[in-house]
Amino acid sequence: MTVSIIVAVAKNKAIGKDNQLLWRLSDDLKNFKKVTSGHAVIMGRKTYDSLGKPLPNRRNVVITRQKDLKIGGVEIVNSLESALELFENSDEEIFILGGAEIYKLAGKYANKIYLTMVEAAPEADAFFDFVPYLSWNLISQTAFQKNEKNEFDFEVMEFSKN
Ligand SMILES: NC(=O)c1ccc[n+]([C@@H]2O[C@H](COP(=O)([O-])OP(=O)(O)OC[C@H]3O[C@@H](n4cnc5c(N)ncnc54)[C@H](OP(=O)(O)O)[C@@H]3O)[C@@H](O)[C@H]2O)c1
Repeated sequence: MTVSIIVAVAKNKAIGKDNQLLWRLSDDLKNFKKVTSGHAVIMGRKTYDSLGKPLPNRRNVVITRQKDLKIGGVEIVNSLESALELFENSDEEIFILGGAEIYKLAGKYANKIYLTMVEAAPEADAFFDFVPYLSWNLISQTAFQKNEKNEFDFEVMEFSKN
């Protein structure tokens, strides 16, 4: 099993505010869809709420402390470990979608990260510390320019753990 974190983060480590994303980056969303489609995605309950519905063509797993939460089209678990156990004997790549609380728990299990670095430093209430991942092996790096579809310049990078 490959455990991949996928995250878009600003230079000040910001990832969200008021349970929303901080930018419109159409090309990053396209990349997100391409990379995660057909795979399982694991996310915190708040990130699920911000999406509002399961992501299509993906197995959606939501982590909550609530014991009786039920959401159509979504598998509910009470810990990240329970989420990972669902894939224990598979060689699938599974994606950790965030948010801040779940990324913190996932760091020790991750062996890959898809890191979008956004040239912005917005006010935020959710953050991700990307610094530890910069010492991993850089596999690919693609730069995108700000334009009518992308609110800021950004770079999509892929790192794997040694
Ligand atoms: N830029 C990006 O790439 C990106 C990606 C994803 C999200 N975001 C942003 O991040 C923000 C949301 O992040 P967040 O940290 O507030 O929330 P989150 O990580 O999405 O979800 C937090 C929730 O997960 C559950 N949870 C957390 N730790 C748990 C544990 N140890 N065991 C069981 N359940 C646990 C709890 O759900 P219950 O309260 O139901 O118990 C908790 O309230 C939003 O602004 C969102 O837009 C940004």
